[in-house]
Amino acid sequence: MEIIYHGHSCVQISDQGQSLIVDPFISGNPLAKTNVNDIGVQYILLTHGHEDHILDAVTIAKQNNAQIIATFELATYLGWQGASVIPMNLGGTYDFGFGTVQLTHAFHSSGYVLNKEQQIIYLGMPAGLLIGMNDKVLYHAGDTGLFSDMKLIGELNDIDLAFLPIGDHFTMGPKDALVAAEWLKAKSVVPVHFDTFPPIVQDARRFVEDLNEIGVHGRALLPGESLVIN
Ligand code: NI
Ligand code: MN
Repeated sequence: MEIIYHGHSCVQISDQGQSLIVDPFISGNPLAKTNVNDIGVQYILLTHGHEDHILDAVTIAKQNNAQIIATFELATYLGWQGASVIPMNLGGTYDFGFGTVQLTHAFHSSGYVLNKEQQIIYLGMPAGLLIGMNDKVLYHAGDTGLFSDMKLIGELNDIDLAFLPIGDHFTMGPKDALVAAEWLKAKSVVPVHFDTFPPIVQDARRFVEDLNEIGVHGRALLPGESLVIN
């Protein structure tokens, strides 16, 4: 299984001819190394409706005939923009053929800001994603603060790889993400949602060192870098 980090919270997961992308924010990310037109996937998974998670979702869906998997309100909203969508909601699991997706809690918000109209479209609850693909379990926490049900998520799932936000300011910071890693009992942790904008600049290498100190394997990826898990 190959994981490509496209920067911010965007990761692409590929295995045995299937490929999916989580939270595509590439064209608006000054640190991104990828061209949106080069993304080839069958599915786009979204954690919530903030622009730094959905900016390129409809473009990627249309250019690939790919389907967007998201919470009900967000999926409906993007469906109106011409994307093919599969609405889900928290707690529910569905088998998509490539594997399963379950939406988990995340403590955050999920509004889309229309600057010109000075309106915010509220797009339901934010979510995390539990992805079961072949024999691997991946957890993408989305944007969230630390919450103690992460212990439950760790108890109920044998997580191989967790993507955890460490940027602070809008999500948990490195200190809380370290607690999250411990509670989730993930075999490996990749930090996301840092460095993209000035308020979320963090020392990801330090975070990885701190993970190693508590016995969790960590790996910080640069935008464009990839990781293979066996
Ligand atoms: Ni957000
Ligand atoms: Mn965000």
